Amino acid sequence: GPAEIAVGEKVIHPSASTVTVQDRERQKGQRGTVFWLTGLSGAGKSTLARGAEAALFSAGLDVTVLDGDTLRTGLCKDLGFSEADRTENVRRAAEVARILRDAGQIVLVALISPLQSDRALARQIVGDGFEEIFVDADLSICEKRDPKGLYAAARSGKISGFTGIDAPYEAPQSPALHLKTDAGSADSAVKTLASFVKDTAKLT
Ligand code: PPS
Repeated sequence: GPAEIAVGEKVIHPSASTVTVQDRERQKGQRGTVFWLTGLSGAGKSTLARGAEAALFSAGLDVTVLDGDTLRTGLCKDLGFSEADRTENVRRAAEVARILRDAGQIVLVALISPLQSDRALARQIVGDGFEEIFVDADLSICEKRDPKGLYAAARSGKISGFTGIDAPYEAPQSPALHLKTDAGSADSAVKTLASFVKDTAKLT
């Protein structure tokens, strides 16, 4: 069951569910799994996550996207882009992903999550059913795309601590799936992602 909470000298035991993850998974016909998409700003994380979400939903699967820009309008709106705030951002997203996974959902997380150590923390929080996916486009391509004008702002010094410019991005060493998004169509990358998710979340 869940861990204990210390309240002064008292120890609180959170209630445990009598409905197991396996029960929920059987009902949904899928394995609850977290797919953690990491990559530079402009690499295509949100586009791929939204495209795969639509395809998987059409195929009858129960899927939710947790996107950085979206979380930062609500759950994470108190957080900025310092290293500590990014770590907290990743931690909160991982805790929510874990809850949704335990509810039997397929969860697509789209966060830059630039540090190896933060992604390791996410993996540890989620536990079983965590798949790291590298959404990989060269910095030069992301910068050329610059859909929000943020790279230009970072280059001209209007934004500081921008990932890839003056803040680090550590590429995953052994992702479960490596999607190159600087060549080829977005459509084919969406298809690759959606079929990887389908295979991985298949109930056996
Ligand atoms: S992180 O590092 O995982 O906490 O970032 P995330 O929550 O994914 O948010 C990334 C989006 O925030 C915008 N933005 C920045 N990104 C990187 N560095 C800095 N300094 C920054 N400031 C704002 C940007 O729109 C990112 O969007 P994406 O979707 O990744 O392009």
